[in-house]
Amino acid sequence: MAEQKFCYIKTFGCQMNEHDSEKMLEVLKSSDYYPTDNLLQADLILLNTCSIREKVEQKVYSTLGRLKGLKKKNPSLIIGVGGCMAQQEGEKLFQKVPFINIVFGTQSINKLSELVKTVEEKNNKVVDISFNGFHSLTLIPKLPQQVKAYVSIMQGCNNHCSYCVVPSVRGEERSRCKEEILQEITSLAERGVKEVTLLGQNVNSYGKDCNGRVDFPSLLSSINEIKGIERIRFITSHPKDLSPQLIYSFRELNKLCEHIHLPIQSGSSSVLKRMNRQYTREEYLDKIDKLREVSPEMSITSDIIVGFPGETEEEFLETLSVLEKVEFDDLFSFKYSDRPGVKATTLPDKVDERVKAERLWRLQNFQKKYTLMKNTKLEGKTVEILAEGLSEKDPQRLTGRTRNNKVVNFAGNIELRGCLVSVLIKRAFLHSLEGELISTLH
Ligand code: SAH
Ligand code: SF4
Ligand code: F3S
Repeated sequence: MAEQKFCYIKTFGCQMNEHDSEKMLEVLKSSDYYPTDNLLQADLILLNTCSIREKVEQKVYSTLGRLKGLKKKNPSLIIGVGGCMAQQEGEKLFQKVPFINIVFGTQSINKLSELVKTVEEKNNKVVDISFNGFHSLTLIPKLPQQVKAYVSIMQGCNNHCSYCVVPSVRGEERSRCKEEILQEITSLAERGVKEVTLLGQNVNSYGKDCNGRVDFPSLLSSINEIKGIERIRFITSHPKDLSPQLIYSFRELNKLCEHIHLPIQSGSSSVLKRMNRQYTREEYLDKIDKLREVSPEMSITSDIIVGFPGETEEEFLETLSVLEKVEFDDLFSFKYSDRPGVKATTLPDKVDERVKAERLWRLQNFQKKYTLMKNTKLEGKTVEILAEGLSEKDPQRLTGRTRNNKVVNFAGNIELRGCLVSVLIKRAFLHSLEGELISTLH
């Protein structure tokens, strides 16, 4: 048997990257590399990077800085940089960080074993950032007790929002074949997975590149039929592609959870225009009304960018007023960041860093009351939770989520992992809820 070697992966960025890291580990098993959480035990260290904002990139560089010493002590250690920043920088990364061995892009994951082998044998540097189409890997969970899984249904993005690097680092939209997706989910269900989260930069344009043969609502409806799967989620949706059929799916499909992440980015139509988002404030609000008509308890979360070039105080106030109108369950908010090669970088009237920081603070503070209000509404209610395992913060207790994606911690036996249980909500906090186990559903 070949010698067992260890690979340590650090992931930056979104769920696609988390899922890609799982794929990397799967690919590397074929060359006898096994996962480790111990950096010092690693023969191979991979950073799966993100380039969405400058701050994330800086984090990657500072992590690389810390690896320099390890490489000095152990020159046979192989260090690889993959993901979106690697895709963006390519060979230039070797100049910036001379001690790394491999640079591999977002579509080169299936070539990872070959790349590592080349470095092992020739002790040189390799780069692969080619766009070679869809890398399709059916993943089989490693842990027998895995309750939830990500399933990639499409890659890339054709939207070209003016601030965003994703289209350039992930390429054109490519939908994965429906049969393959259904097969993967069926095999996950057979291994005990109860909840799937469908992944894509813009899941609701799934199938647009398949000549009308398939669309997102019909994919959801087929997944709803898969035995063993109890819950379906998806991220991320683009407001312009949120069709009436998709909205009705929330009523029709019993396994589709009542939560949608629908990034608005700004509450001002003029800013949205400069962002090239292709919807107005009013159109967004109208879709929210329709979602709530179909599913009044639906939880809605969003992304917001503050300080987009030219954003005036009035435009920012329009964003605050959307928070008041929609009452989002939670919000992910960011200061606008210039990115190489994207349109917004060339726009005039950049907003001062101090103003951006102040707007972000005001926005986040304003949202807090709505997040807490939504959580508090659940106090005294009995809800369905999928028990996921022990809580990381409090290993004495179990953790799980409501159908509308709120984290609930409660006392219970670990044998309940993977079961749907009924929990009475006792207390609400900003980021989680505390509950009491009432009964096991199944
Ligand atoms: N595909 C998803 C978002 C992917 S990026 C969508 O379209 O909604 C995640 C979030 O990062 C975006 O929603 C946006 O809010 C933020 N973001 C992207 N580019 C950014 C930039 N240049 N500066 C600040 N935030 C940015
Ligand atoms: Fe970026 Fe816009 Fe595509 Fe989302 S939809 S990934 S924000 S270009
Ligand atoms: Fe970042 Fe790439 Fe995701 S840029 S947000 S890791 S698609």
